[in-house]
Amino acid sequence: MLSGKRIVLGVSGGIAAYKSVELCRRLVDAGAHVTPVMTAGAEHFIGRTTLSALASEPVRTSLWDGPDPIPHTTLGQQADLIVVAPATARVIAAYAHGLSTDLLTNALIATRAPVIVCPAMHTEMWEHAAVQANIRTLRERGVIIVDPEEGRLAGGDIGKGRLANIDSIADVVHRTLAIRDLEGVKVLVTAGGTREPIDAVRVIANRSSGKQGHAIAAECSRRGAMVTLVTTSHLDHPSSIERVDVETAAQMQQALDVHAAAHDVIIMSAAVADFRPVNPAGEKLKKDRGAPELLLEPTPDLLLHLGAAKQPHQVLVGFAAETSNLAENARSKLVRKNLDLVVANDVSAEGVGFSHDTNAVTLVAADGDRTIGLCSKAKIAEAVVDEIAKIRLAMRPADARRVDPTT
Ligand code: CTP
Repeated sequence: MLSGKRIVLGVSGGIAAYKSVELCRRLVDAGAHVTPVMTAGAEHFIGRTTLSALASEPVRTSLWDGPDPIPHTTLGQQADLIVVAPATARVIAAYAHGLSTDLLTNALIATRAPVIVCPAMHTEMWEHAAVQANIRTLRERGVIIVDPEEGRLAGGDIGKGRLANIDSIADVVHRTLAIRDLEGVKVLVTAGGTREPIDAVRVIANRSSGKQGHAIAAECSRRGAMVTLVTTSHLDHPSSIERVDVETAAQMQQALDVHAAAHDVIIMSAAVADFRPVNPAGEKLKKDRGAPELLLEPTPDLLLHLGAAKQPHQVLVGFAAETSNLAENARSKLVRKNLDLVVANDVSAEGVGFSHDTNAVTLVAADGDRTIGLCSKAKIAEAVVDEIAKIRLAMRPADARRVDPTT
């Protein structure tokens, strides 16, 4: 299944390094060309010979020990995928901060291929705010994180931090390389909540963080799409994505006017304000003049306009934040706004929707509903993109036009 794929297997210095030997064997057995790269720390745990014997070529450890004068760029450019298992706190920090401290971190920074990071460390380290912040940064940039598991750790301690099991890591590698069902498809994603000015410093905002939209944009990009992300969020994004920063509903509308017609799939995950102040003050309103009376006007319904202008080859996805009658309200929105899919969430439920790292949704399409229980926003993104790919497959071939990425 992985035949012809070039995988760089990064191994850093933790006791779980011994498990990378099994992962290496699995990937080679599946037909991949595996280039192992060990850090100096990893060499304290396993010998080079072990990995070299099982991989497709000898272990690399240094920027300086081979005939290639630029091994890091060669590795990074040639790779179809880099998987780091185990990834220590140091390697995660270096990668998140762009520090090229050794061959492995150089290759990570020099690649545009998908990267899978599989952390393994003691619970105290895994839960440290700095490690969690670095993990968040990498996730936002589209790096796939295979979370560690609970279990016995080095020294006999029990807790979260044990390397994910090799079956799960191998599955993620297969999935990442195999699923390219949006190759060359142009996808536009909107994300975050709009901020509507009251005066020069104050805004009417909402609780949306943009996490779900950014996760969907990253998933589409990983699956081969050419992605434009129109966002109000300050979250980071994968470098493969074209980003358009906006703040208000009017700016989002302008961005859609420019970009929407040229895209095959449009995913409106942004929480666009429904009302905005009429004539916001250009200067800061002074409080000694008393509380201002805010006159609000409705914003245009961007999704409704997109639905009215939808071309036969386009797939249009709307979101619905509901507090009751979830599927019923979503289905009426599907029909009324000429959508192909509605991603509905019950924002009154625990751990769901705005600002959380988790979500639970009902996907409502013409052919039925599908409920995805509470899980990470990355997993929800996978399910949403699976559904979009299914809808595109069911379209007439002439409609589901594939855009030539070279044009
Ligand atoms: N949306 C939009 N333009 C607006 C408001 C919302 O395009 N001015 C889009 C959002 O991006 C999202 C969906 O509409 O995809 C969310 O709709 P929601 O706010 O849940 O619905 P309502 O605004 O309540 O729509 P309606 O009152 O028509 O049911």
